[in-house]
Amino acid sequence: MNSTLVTTTTTFFEKTFGTIPQKIISSPGRINIIGEHIDYNDGYVLPAAIDKVICFAFEKTNAATSTIVAIDLGESFEIDVTQTPNLSDAIWTNYFRGVVQQLQNKGIVVGNFNCVFSSSIPVGSGLSSSAALECGFLFGLNELYDLNIKPVDIALMGQSAEHWVGINCGIMDQFSSVMGKENQVVKIDCRTLEYEYHKADFSEYSLLLFDSNVKHSLFSSAYNQRRQECEQGLTILRTHFPEITSFREATESQILSIKDKMTEDVFKRCYYAIKEIKRVTLACEALDRGDIIALGELMFETHQGLSEEYEVSCAELDMIVDTLKKEPAVVGSRLMGGGFGGCTINLIKKGQEKTIRTKLTKLYQDIFGIELKTYEVAIANGTSLYNPV
Ligand code: GLA
Repeated sequence: MNSTLVTTTTTFFEKTFGTIPQKIISSPGRINIIGEHIDYNDGYVLPAAIDKVICFAFEKTNAATSTIVAIDLGESFEIDVTQTPNLSDAIWTNYFRGVVQQLQNKGIVVGNFNCVFSSSIPVGSGLSSSAALECGFLFGLNELYDLNIKPVDIALMGQSAEHWVGINCGIMDQFSSVMGKENQVVKIDCRTLEYEYHKADFSEYSLLLFDSNVKHSLFSSAYNQRRQECEQGLTILRTHFPEITSFREATESQILSIKDKMTEDVFKRCYYAIKEIKRVTLACEALDRGDIIALGELMFETHQGLSEEYEVSCAELDMIVDTLKKEPAVVGSRLMGGGFGGCTINLIKKGQEKTIRTKLTKLYQDIFGIELKTYEVAIANGTSLYNPV
């Protein structure tokens, strides 16, 4: 973990509470190579944890309530872990409240604590800062109070906390934040939660993220609506093909054959989901055999599907991908995460990164008047206890 972030967090902790933290936790954001909006559709996804993290410092206390301080926001709040939490207008605090609610749900008792955190994960960029918050916080309490919660259960409880906050998300973000491994992507079967690691070797291509700097205020409602549309579509599909239990078993010809039995929107969501599930398997095979050109092609296809069929893109993201598609040095590009803004993930020929970035940044500024941000990310370990060396 970035030592400056650790120093900032621990120094702040010491100044605020006059004590040295007992546990320091690193909780990463994630990227996703391919497999978008199919974690909640029983599909496969191919994410990885990254070296942008939230650093938490914790200590146990005997106080009547617990204190949580967000260094970057200059805000703090107190929580009584014995009381049922309610949603607050201070949005960031809800992720903590949601985790406390999950602990209570499971009858897990924790004592009081002081917690300070600071982050290097950009918020609202599709890098899952909220999953890092939920899982890092729970991981810290697990360490502090020896709760014996298994890593996969930390991810599942983190996901339930996010549902409590109001986004009916799948498991991808929390799972990859907790289970990520350095230099590996993790292929998750979101139906069974079986997973396998694959070497993240992109050969002569670099992985670069371009942040559109666009944040969609209607994200949660649109996200939950997509999920409902898929559920509706699957129910219709199953009335015609009862042997199908999820989109995973459905074929393109089956969905095409009942196109007129559903609204156009519902059809498009289902059609996308069926094709995207298949793309992930193909992409993983391409990665394993070092065929980055084939992997990139699939990423372009995913973007087109997200834009035209799933309709979770926006003009800014489409412009980035369309522009990069014309560049011979770029073999793959697509919007990453939930969509409606945030980042694109791109595969760019090594040595050409700067040229592409400069050209795109200028064009993007000229068209939208927005500053494009670029992130170089390394694939790193999942949530862990920080051990200074
Ligand atoms: C958000 C959700 C995930 C996943 C992605 C889209 O990040 O939290 O569960 O659905 O969107 O793939």
